[in-house]
Amino acid sequence: MINAPHNPTGMVPDRGTYDALVAIAAEAGAHLLVDEVYRYLEFDEGDRLPAGVDAGSHVISLGVMSKSFAMAGLRIGWLASRDRDLLTRVAAFKDYTTICASAPAEILSLIGLRARNTVLARSRELVTRNLAILDDFFARRGDTFTWVRPRGGSIGFPRLRADLDADRFCAELVEAEGVLLLPGSRFAHPGNHVRIGFGRADLPQALAGLERHLARPRVPA
Ligand SMILES: Cc1ncc(COP(=O)(O)O)c(C=O)c1O
Repeated sequence: MINAPHNPTGMVPDRGTYDALVAIAAEAGAHLLVDEVYRYLEFDEGDRLPAGVDAGSHVISLGVMSKSFAMAGLRIGWLASRDRDLLTRVAAFKDYTTICASAPAEILSLIGLRARNTVLARSRELVTRNLAILDDFFARRGDTFTWVRPRGGSIGFPRLRADLDADRFCAELVEAEGVLLLPGSRFAHPGNHVRIGFGRADLPQALAGLERHLARPRVPA
């Protein structure tokens, strides 16, 4: 299974790497599930990979309404595959869990998907504007964070200065300012990273809270 654009790093593999992953799965006789929920939010549209479903009959695309299409409340997602037998088995399994999706949510999803150019333009405008704000923030706060710019999506994974413990920093930040960063330990990832989401209009207010918190004197652990 791969996820691109990736949560939490915003990584998008290059085309050669992606094709190699597709080939490795084919040689192994395995399915490859491609989680593409952030597809269409690539900052350079030239980075956009072909949908998994178009890469081979063993590749399955996973999509949702909640990310690039910004309609999380509908709780609608999908798998796309050329493997009919697999889809039949997945549908049978779903029968035992949720039976079916909500028909009103499906209809609203169709309306959203048919208006995809408008919907995606809005999402892209938001994340592009916020990414510029983050670039500026991390350029100013290079003393505290190392920023590897995401290539797609609405999430980044900066590294926090080594002498600030990410778990403690995030706990104190949410207590003091109501601003939530997720420490990398939640992903069992070493290296003192924090996850930051920038798919929201109130990012400047959240960064102002982070700035205020950074300005506070630190109490040693
Ligand atoms: C990479 C990735 N895939 C899938 C999902 C699931 O999306 P949904 O909340 O619409 O089920 C998420 C949600 O955070 C996600 O980040």
